[in-house]
Amino acid sequence: MVSPMPKPRVLVTRRIPEVGLQAIQAYAEVEVWEGEGPIPRDVLRKKVASIEGLYCLLTDVVDEEILGRAPKLRVVSTMAVGYDHIDVDACTRRKIPVGNTPGVLTETTADFAFALLMAAARRIGEAADFVKAGRWNAWDPTLFVGHDVHGATLGIIGFGRIGQAVARRTTGFGMRVVVSHSRPILDETLRQTQVEQMSFDRVVEEADFLSLHVPLTPQTEYLINQEVFHRMKPTAALINTARGRVVDSKALYAALRDRTIASAALDVTDPEPISPEDPLLTLPNCLVVPHIASASVATRTRMAVMAAENLRAGLVGEQIPHCVNPEVLRT
Ligand code: DGY
Repeated sequence: MVSPMPKPRVLVTRRIPEVGLQAIQAYAEVEVWEGEGPIPRDVLRKKVASIEGLYCLLTDVVDEEILGRAPKLRVVSTMAVGYDHIDVDACTRRKIPVGNTPGVLTETTADFAFALLMAAARRIGEAADFVKAGRWNAWDPTLFVGHDVHGATLGIIGFGRIGQAVARRTTGFGMRVVVSHSRPILDETLRQTQVEQMSFDRVVEEADFLSLHVPLTPQTEYLINQEVFHRMKPTAALINTARGRVVDSKALYAALRDRTIASAALDVTDPEPISPEDPLLTLPNCLVVPHIASASVATRTRMAVMAAENLRAGLVGEQIPHCVNPEVLRT
């Protein structure tokens, strides 16, 4: 009798939705990091020594050092669309494909960006805290007066999938949408989304709400800084569902404290998690939530399954459905 081929060994760095795990168990011998919080770096360093597949999260830094300790590694699959936590060049040099989860979280993330926009505009976080603190005494014409969303101008920085999905949500609000993007936007896309493309500076100056939708790269790191805050309207709100490090958080603190801008609503911070001592958390005009824009049951399930499919393809040497360095598969 021929003994069956041993299954490849895979490390999953955190508990993930069950269907994703079951999908991986069908083709691999899986170890899941069950500890509290992200897998500690020293544990990851040791565990990668014997694995062929790494299923990771955006909280795991996969760099030269980790890759250097993983001689058998054939694929890295992240359960995220953003892959700034992975040294993709280092993976490419080792001919390791890297998979991510684009598309499946677009609409859910755009929903959430819009929720933050509305919360910032209408001061929902502050107002809810006020009620919970037992401070609501009577209806008051001056209580939590905010800014209208309908008819306002939305500035979008980065017009990829999620930026476009946010733009689509503005129709019912009769908003004007101005967009800054690194490349010329196709006429067809401009027509469909009814947005105007303009320079970064103009978008910043014209926006009542500025929503960030760029990946974190050396070009976008601290893109939103003191100079930008000074160009923004004093009534404007900043919405960040992209990556924390796109914003200079010290400059943001000063801008909110001094009312250079009106408010901010942040799903992402620098660093993550934000320290409870961070001065941003002392500001009533800053709403911070813990990186949950894609956190709907359906979307997190789809992300888990998509990352499992990427992992499987990488392990058997097939074209990964969503690969950020497809050149490794062509050589
Ligand atoms: C991502 O996937 O990159 C988001 O930030 C989390 O869903």
